[in-house]
Amino acid sequence: MGIEVDLKGRRILVVGASSGVGRSTALAIAARGGEIAVAGRRAAQLDEVVAAAGGGVAIPADLHREDDCARVVEDAVAALGGLDAVLFPVGVSPLQLMTRLTADTWGSAFATNVVGPSLVTAAAVKARTEPGLFLYVSSANVAQPLQGLGAYGATKAALEHTIRTWRLEHPEHRFLRLTIGATMPTEIHRDFSGDVLSEVLPKWAGTGVVTADFMHVDDVGGAVAELTAFALAHPKIAVDDVTFSPASAPLDASTLGQLGQRAAEGQLLDADGQLPL
Ligand SMILES: NC(=O)c1ccc[n+]([C@@H]2O[C@H](COP(=O)([O-])OP(=O)(O)OC[C@H]3O[C@@H](n4cnc5c(N)ncnc54)[C@H](OP(=O)(O)O)[C@@H]3O)[C@@H](O)[C@H]2O)c1
Repeated sequence: MGIEVDLKGRRILVVGASSGVGRSTALAIAARGGEIAVAGRRAAQLDEVVAAAGGGVAIPADLHREDDCARVVEDAVAALGGLDAVLFPVGVSPLQLMTRLTADTWGSAFATNVVGPSLVTAAAVKARTEPGLFLYVSSANVAQPLQGLGAYGATKAALEHTIRTWRLEHPEHRFLRLTIGATMPTEIHRDFSGDVLSEVLPKWAGTGVVTADFMHVDDVGGAVAELTAFALAHPKIAVDDVTFSPASAPLDASTLGQLGQRAAEGQLLDADGQLPL
């Protein structure tokens, strides 16, 4: 599925491409003719993405390190001969109640989700002479706070503030905020504790954030590639804010309670990355 778009000759850096939405996006860009540079900490996964894409450059880097943030841009520009777009499907999502969050968890979440993307953006803005496109992945959690996701939501709210400030300081570039809802399978929940999830899931009833079906990561990756192609094809249009949400009904309180019980038993998702309903 998807629409036909042509990304031939477009040079695109995907930060956070070793798994999840970033990996699917990078593969979808390459399948549509784009040239990719992929960044993240796990070198082996980045090499796998480049092999699966049939080309591209892998740039292992940790956004916690300021020098890595600059080097990602330098290496991508050197390998691709320039950059037309930089995408940030990057992030970590701690799941913990506010009274139990540590300074380390807060600091790491802000370093990855807010500071790193802005340092990479700064390096790319300084390296460019032509208008560029920057796309940041934010979360439905900004508009809908949830128990256990306070630190995560705070980082995404801060990310959105940086996007609005980038637009003010650099109107020659375009800074797109892409808000997405539940997407699986990805590795965003890799550090989730089943115990915390079982505690908070029933409390999410009525928020509408947990739906019977999640968006599939490859569908979202394809849509991000198509959105990028659309924005690049229309350089005089500021595509500021886009939202992708699951086209599916929210779950009721009793189903969320049952899911909480399954999470406590270690069964968060089934083999297809869907809720075990
Ligand atoms: N999945 C969802 O339901 C959902 C919902 C709303 C928003 N989002 C957002 O969508 C984006 C993609 O998430 P995802 O679900 O695809 O999760 P994911 O599979 O965990 O992907 C996150 C990516 O970020 C990279 N990353 C994490 N820490 C990093 C660091 N310090 N330096 C460099 N790269 C780092 C990871 O690579 P390494 O570990 O190799 O570094 C990975 O490639 C995130 O911004 C997330 O907040 C996801």
